[in-house]
Amino acid sequence: MMSLAVKAKNLRDSRTIHMAKKDETKVIYAGRDPESNFGIVNPPVYHASTVLFPTADALEHYAKLPVKYGRHGTPGTFALEEAMSELEGGYKSALAPSGLAACTISLLAFLSTGDHLLMVDSVYGPTRAFCETTLKRMGIEVTYYDPLIGADIAGLIKPNTKVVYTESPGSRSFEIQDIPAISAAAKAHGDITVMMDNTWATPLYFKAFEHGVDISIHAATKYIVGHSDAMLGIVTTNKESWKKLRATHRSVGLCCAPDDAYLALRGIRTLAVRLDRHCQNAMVLCEWLKERPEVEQVLYPALPDDPGHEIWQRDFKGATGLFAFVLNEGTKAQSHALLDNTPLFGMGYSWGGFESLIVPNDVVERSVNAWTHKGPSFRIHAGLEDSGDLITDLQKGFDAFRKAK
Ligand SMILES: Cc1ncc(COP(=O)(O)O)c(C=O)c1O
Repeated sequence: MMSLAVKAKNLRDSRTIHMAKKDETKVIYAGRDPESNFGIVNPPVYHASTVLFPTADALEHYAKLPVKYGRHGTPGTFALEEAMSELEGGYKSALAPSGLAACTISLLAFLSTGDHLLMVDSVYGPTRAFCETTLKRMGIEVTYYDPLIGADIAGLIKPNTKVVYTESPGSRSFEIQDIPAISAAAKAHGDITVMMDNTWATPLYFKAFEHGVDISIHAATKYIVGHSDAMLGIVTTNKESWKKLRATHRSVGLCCAPDDAYLALRGIRTLAVRLDRHCQNAMVLCEWLKERPEVEQVLYPALPDDPGHEIWQRDFKGATGLFAFVLNEGTKAQSHALLDNTPLFGMGYSWGGFESLIVPNDVVERSVNAWTHKGPSFRIHAGLEDSGDLITDLQKGFDAFRKAK
C-alpha cells in the first residue's frame, strides 16, 4: 500500500501529538495514524482472513510480522487496542467479541484447576454464572466477597488464591469498592492478579492501573461504542500480565469483527462529551427521584449521601449515566404501569448508548450480603436527551404508578 510521505503537522502520527495531553484531547487522537492512510482521518476497516506474504522467506517467518492472519488482527483492530491502552494507561489490550467474553477470558487466563478465586458478590450476573458453571467444572474454587470489604479481603486470601476480581460500582446495586485497599491486600499476599470490570466508569472516569489493578476489563458494547449497535469486549493489562492474557486469548481463538472495532474507535472520539452529558442527566433525574415520596433510596455514587460517595469522590473522575432507585412499596401492576408510561425510557437490557432506558432491577444473585430492600427497584440509564423531557416522562410514569393497583 502506498503511504503518504508528507510530514505535515496535521498528519503527524497520533502518538507524537497527544502525548501528555488531557483525556479530552487523547480521545480525539488515540489510535489514529492519518500519515499511513493517505491523510484520511479515521483508520480504515480491513476485512481480512488471508494475508499474503511476498516471499517464501517472509512466509517462513510470518510469526514476526504484525499483520499475518485476520484472527490475529489488522491495522483497524490494532488502532482500537492502541487507543484503549493509551486511555487506560495500561500496557496492551486485546479485543473480544463481547464484554462477557472479555470478563471470562481474563479469568480463564489466570486460573487453573485447584486455584481459588475471590469474586465480588455484586458482579455482573453472567460473569457470576460463568464462575458457577465453567470455573467450578474446571475445579476452581470460588468465594464471593462483600463489595464493601476493603482491606479486610486479606482475611479471605488463601495460599491458592490467584485472582481477586472487582467491579465498581456493581451494575445493579451500585456499591463502590475500595480498589486501592483491595489491591494492596492482594499484593501483600504474593502472586495474585487483581482484575476489574471497569465498564461503568470507562477509562476516562476510573484509572484502573493507577489504583493497583492489573487487568482492566470493558464491555465496550456500552459507553465505548456508545450507540447501541455493536457487541465488543476489551481487556487492557499492565506489562506483567500481558503475556499470560495474550496466550489464552490467542489459544481460544478470540477476535472481533472489524466493523465493530471501527464503531468502537469512532465512539471513543465523542466519549468525553457523551459522558459529561450522561452524568448531567443522571444527576438531574436522581435529584428529582430523591424528592419523590414513593422513593426509598436512589443508588448513584455521585450523590453526596450515597454510601459509596466518599470513595467515589476520592478515586473516580466522574460518574456515568447508569443508576438505580428503590420504591418504598408497590405491586407488580404498579411497576408495570410505571414502565409502560415512560415512553422516552426504552425497556431493554444493556446501557451506555445515546438513549435512555429503564428496566426492573431485581437483585437476587447474592451469596454474602442479601439485597434488603422490600419495594420494587428500577435501573435507569440516563441517555443524552433533554433532561426536562426525561423528567416530564418520569412524572407520567409515577402518576400511572399511583393510579394502578
Ligand atoms: C458490568 C457489565 N460487564 C459486562 C457486561 C457484558 O457485556 P456484553 O453484553 O457486551 O457481553 C455487561 C453487560 O450488560 C455489564 O453490564
